[in-house]
This record gives sequence, structure tokens and C-alpha cells, in this order.
Amino acid sequence: MLIVESVQALREVIIPIQGQNEAINFVPTMGNLHQGHIALVDEAKKIPGKTIVSIFVNPMQFNDQSDLAKYPRTMDADIEKLQAANTDILFAPNIAEIYGPEGLDGQTKISVPDISENLEGASRPGHFDGVATVVAKLFNLVQPQNAIFGEKDFQQLAVIRKMVENLNFPVDIISHPTIRESDGLAMSSRNGYLNTEQRAVAPNLYKSLQMMQKQIESSSEPFLTIQQNAMAWLNSKGMETDYLFIADARTLQQAERGKENLVILGAAYLGKTRLIDNIPLG
Ligand code: PAJ
Repeated sequence: MLIVESVQALREVIIPIQGQNEAINFVPTMGNLHQGHIALVDEAKKIPGKTIVSIFVNPMQFNDQSDLAKYPRTMDADIEKLQAANTDILFAPNIAEIYGPEGLDGQTKISVPDISENLEGASRPGHFDGVATVVAKLFNLVQPQNAIFGEKDFQQLAVIRKMVENLNFPVDIISHPTIRESDGLAMSSRNGYLNTEQRAVAPNLYKSLQMMQKQIESSSEPFLTIQQNAMAWLNSKGMETDYLFIADARTLQQAERGKENLVILGAAYLGKTRLIDNIPLG
């Protein structure tokens, strides 16, 4: 695996790939890699061409500076995992390489309207502008034909799909289902913040989404009632629910009975740790 840290070195690496008409299949990450990330790399490897993974803890998408400071950085272990997954190229730039001498404040920003505003967008102001901006910059640097994202971050995926459509990026966005621990907890770098007691409680977030799925499919309860009951249940299990929400999978607005193409989205706190999960339906 080739490891490049500068924009200049990345350019020198991608020019011959493009010259040979090979596709670039891209997996952007913030590192601290787990099986969820590696599943995306495996998906990229299925497509002919070269696989590029990026590791960049993007300061622009953190609305909480202490969250940014404590975000786990495990570069050596990440390199081993990427090597084992036969990644061709790792792009691991530092902040100055991505944001230049002007830094974060002087940057042109990309803001994807409507879809960025509720759910994660409401709880984490500016988060999706930071995500959209860095993904756009990474697409311009890496110049991929395909980019693979996890359904785990369902709203992020929707924001990126809309950005790609609105800005005419020549990139196919491919999504991969959420990879889970054996007890159902969605794999996440943030799971590492949980203590033993919190870790035992954490799978209840996914359980609450599964309960909601059952009630959507086998009862005639209004969606608002299902959401309220599930929130009360999850709180009673010791999590502090931010939202449990049945949405139109395309717009992420509140759905009502009779709609097709739904997604159930959830976010809840265990202490200071915020966990998110979702179940796309049909
Ligand atoms: P990060 O949280 O590192 O996630 C990188 C990619 O892995 C995202 O597409 C995410 O949805 C996917 N992913 C994480 N956990 C997963 C799981 N359990 N199953 C399947 N896929 C999973 O998301 C980001 O980084 C950043 O916002 C980024 C897009 C890199 C922009 O900075």
C-alpha cells in the first residue's frame, strides 16, 4: 500500500492511474477503522480499478471542540487493517494540507439545504456543512469515479447524494449496509467511549428501532404514537433519547402512514456519548 500525505504527492500518484484509464474507487474516513469501514473497502475492491482510502479527522465537521480533541487517532493499527484489506493507496493529509494557510475560517463552504437541517443537523449545527465541504474537497483531490459510504450515517449519505447531484460531481455514490456487533449495536468509533455498563445498555438503541419497525409493519398505530412510545421505552432503558423518527427516506421529513420508502432514524446519549443508528425499510 502506498501512503501519501501531501496533495502534491497524491496528484503524482493519480495521474498515471488516470493515464491508464483505470477507475479510482474512494472510501473517505476519519480513521480508527473497524469492520464497518473495512466492509466499505471490500466493496470498493469489487469494482475494477484502484482503491484509495482517506484518513482525515476533519475539524470543520466537529461542532464541539472537546469532541474533536478526544476523537480516537490510531494510525498504525489503521494502516495494518488497510494493508490486510489490500488497499492500493492511503491518503492521510494533515489539517494544513487540506485547509491551507487560511485555515477553517477563510474557507469556501458548501451548504446542502433542507436535508442538512433536521435530526443530526439540528443537534449538531454546522456539522453537515463541514462534511459536505470536506467531501467536496476530497472528491476534487482524489478524483474518484466511485465513492463508497455507509448507511450507518444515513443522513450524511443523503446530504452527499444531494451535493453530488446539485454540483454535478462525476462520481457514483455507492452505499453499504450498516455492520453491527453480534448484539446488534452498530459499529462506531464512538463505541470506544462507552464504559462496561453503558456498553451493555447501548444495543437498546437498535432494539428500539426494531420495535418501531414491527409496529409500523403489524399495527395501525399512527407514526407519532410509535415514536413517542419508543422514546419512552428507550429512556426507561437508561438512554437519553434525542430523536426516534420515522422519515421519508428521500427527504428525511416526518412520514405518515401510507407512504412508501421509509427509514427509521434514532439518536441517543449514554452519558456524553452520542450514538446514532437507523433501519431503512424496503
Ligand atoms: P467515519 O465516521 O470514519 O466513517 C467513514 C465511513 O464509514 C462513512 O461512510 C460511514 O458511514 C461508514 N461507517 C461507519 N460505521 C459504519 C458501520 N458500522 N457500518 C457501515 N459503514 C460504516 O463519516 C465520516 O467518517 C466522515 O463524516 C467523512 C465522510 C469521512 C467526512 O469527514
